Amino acid sequence: IGEIKNSDIVVITAGLTRKPGMTREALLHKNAQILKDICLNIKKLASQSIVIVVTNPLDLMTRLALEITGFKPNRVFGMGITLDAARFANLISKELKIPCLDIEACVIGSHSEGMLPLPRFTNIKGVALDEFLDDKKIDTLIKKTLKRGAEIVSLLGSGSAYFAPSAAIAEITKII
Ligand code: LAC
Repeated sequence: IGEIKNSDIVVITAGLTRKPGMTREALLHKNAQILKDICLNIKKLASQSIVIVVTNPLDLMTRLALEITGFKPNRVFGMGITLDAARFANLISKELKIPCLDIEACVIGSHSEGMLPLPRFTNIKGVALDEFLDDKKIDTLIKKTLKRGAEIVSLLGSGSAYFAPSAAIAEITKII
């Protein structure tokens, strides 16, 4: 943990991952304990850092990190929605057979199955998604986006997604 001393950015990925069939929220109590200890160390050793939280349940853990560190809200981020927007974009890209980079996907809310992909604010080179797909198709892609994390957990059997979360962390870090 001493390695975080004076870091500019601290990314918290520590914690248990869900097993197939579990919700992210089921990890709350155990991961809160783990996070608490880490956040006290961040406060002590990297008091000027920006914190990116990846541990699930992501938004609750981000809130907890904010409270324990006492940092200003603009220095504590959750990774969730960057990942969810990338997943939505990926599904659209496969459906329309166009590059992901042409798609600006918008997802708001929490990194849970209560997330809210917003098709009207999602565009392809500036043109709204509903110009390309009908409501039924869009609805299918939204439902798939909500379940994407759980789908990967069930395919892996043990552990949860790591490729796309790593890319999301890298993107947020680069932007900061
Ligand atoms: C996921 C986990 C990391 O959505 O929450 O894949």
